[in-house]
Amino acid sequence: MNDLFTRAEKVLMNNVRRYPAVFTRAEGSRVYDAAGREYIDFLSGIAVQAVGHSHPRITAAIRQQAEKIIHVSNLYYLEEQIDLAEKLVALSGLDRVFFCNSGAEANEAAIKLARKYGRHQLGGKYEIVSAIHSFHGRTLGALAATGQPKYQENFAPMPAGFRYAPFNDLAAWEAAVSDHTCALLLEPVQGEGGVHPVSREFLEGIAALCRKHRLLLILDEVQTGLGRTGKYFAWEHFGIKPDILTTAKALGAGVPLGALLATEKVASVLAPGDHSTTVGGGGIAFAAGLEVLRLLEEENLPARAARLGAELKTLFQSWQQELPVIKAVRGWGLMLALELTVPAGPVAQQCFENGLLINAVSPTALRLLPALNIEHKDLEVGLSILKAVLKEFEK
Ligand SMILES: Cc1ncc(COP(=O)(O)O)c(C=O)c1O
Repeated sequence: MNDLFTRAEKVLMNNVRRYPAVFTRAEGSRVYDAAGREYIDFLSGIAVQAVGHSHPRITAAIRQQAEKIIHVSNLYYLEEQIDLAEKLVALSGLDRVFFCNSGAEANEAAIKLARKYGRHQLGGKYEIVSAIHSFHGRTLGALAATGQPKYQENFAPMPAGFRYAPFNDLAAWEAAVSDHTCALLLEPVQGEGGVHPVSREFLEGIAALCRKHRLLLILDEVQTGLGRTGKYFAWEHFGIKPDILTTAKALGAGVPLGALLATEKVASVLAPGDHSTTVGGGGIAFAAGLEVLRLLEEENLPARAARLGAELKTLFQSWQQELPVIKAVRGWGLMLALELTVPAGPVAQQCFENGLLINAVSPTALRLLPALNIEHKDLEVGLSILKAVLKEFEK
């Protein structure tokens, strides 16, 4: 395996910090490395493998599609593209879909759609207000919407037209809205910002603010979408429907796929030539996405995520008695974080060494994003590794 690391260090760019593991195989919630070690996966490729790794139905769908047809470009249609769009429309209650390849691309498209709507329907408005500590992706538009200077400062100047306000602070958002604002952009649970759920009062206030000023509400459900928080889309917890919705991650089960959804009224401002991408998911991604949605539905996985997440929260809260290193437990469904009294990085590192994949989402918070269909025995093994490691950090 050392040979693989040496080769990797020579050719891969040094733009991410990686754990020293080359994975060669994965099944369900277990992942295996080139040295033959087994890991329980509580991270799911950062919320991508919602139905577990190498699900036989996803694998079969990908194989069959590869043999049938993969790519024709957006100049034509694929039946699977239409099927998937229809399913997403039915699930979200929105009207129109654009497919792309990632969460960042879905947000880029959302920003462009909001700007064109602002330009033509709102008298030339273009500004988007987003949250401090948000994360919307690494392309320049999505990065400009990301309210975290640490991601932006090396790449200045950022595209203009973005303002930021603290999450869950309605008065600050009211103050941030200007005569130029066309849209408010939010994650229902801030993921990369540390797993911070939106409050009901705040989201209701945001919806009212949008109505008052005729602003578009854009919800970024790239991480929260497709069952992760216990509903297909996290906004369903409050019944506050966005005008524009983005999703990705779990949708393609690891095959690059993102989606922008919008109401008819908003989507109708787009004309041919306004926006596109050569691949935009493609046949394999659509086939994988359709199978993901079938599995979520057949196995009622959003409801399972809600149930299991509530059980896990109660369990972690009970751990707090004997493990005061756990300062707080937060999140919805199977998107959870443990706020620690010690740095989370070394805890995640020790978990990795003991065979558990989990990540330090902030300097002091561990994040859990297990597969929505994680088997109880895998969950038990992962939890026992986690508890033993947390005990070590108690000393
Ligand atoms: C809420 C949110 N939006 C956008 C993105 C960017 O998605 P991608 O990495 O697929 O570009 C992420 C990735 O973590 C995310 O969590």
